[in-house]
Amino acid sequence: LAATDYQAEDATVVQGTVATNHTGYTGTGFVDYTNVKGSYVEFTVSAASAGTTAVTFRYANGTATDRPMDISVNGTVVSPAVSFPATADWNTWATKTVDVPLTAGSGKIRATATTAGGGPNLDRIGV
Ligand code: GCU
Ligand code: CA
Repeated sequence: LAATDYQAEDATVVQGTVATNHTGYTGTGFVDYTNVKGSYVEFTVSAASAGTTAVTFRYANGTATDRPMDISVNGTVVSPAVSFPATADWNTWATKTVDVPLTAGSGKIRATATTAGGGPNLDRIGV
């Protein structure tokens, strides 16, 4: 089954801004997390059926330092401190795939920065 893409700039953003100041993003921009712990992006996604589902995060991290994030579903952390390691620069995007449990229908997937650096720049997720 092909993944459905959800753009970060269309999601709920808390402590972050939609930005376009680097190349290579999809959609109309990406989310620049504020550089604080607790900044997050939350996506409302739809799952055809219940079960473990691969969620692919497309991100850039132009620093030399990891930008880990907790991944939660409907308010429960299902994958703590997932690593979003450095990419070559802010114009270079990588993907990170996390298996998460989803129930059928609508659900909320949140990616929350766990360190003072905040999250990486986030372009989209695929579910
Ligand atoms: C730079 C970069 C931003 C990035 C930020 C960061 O300012 O231009 O896109 O989000 O660094 O360190 O988080
Ligand atoms: Ca940032």
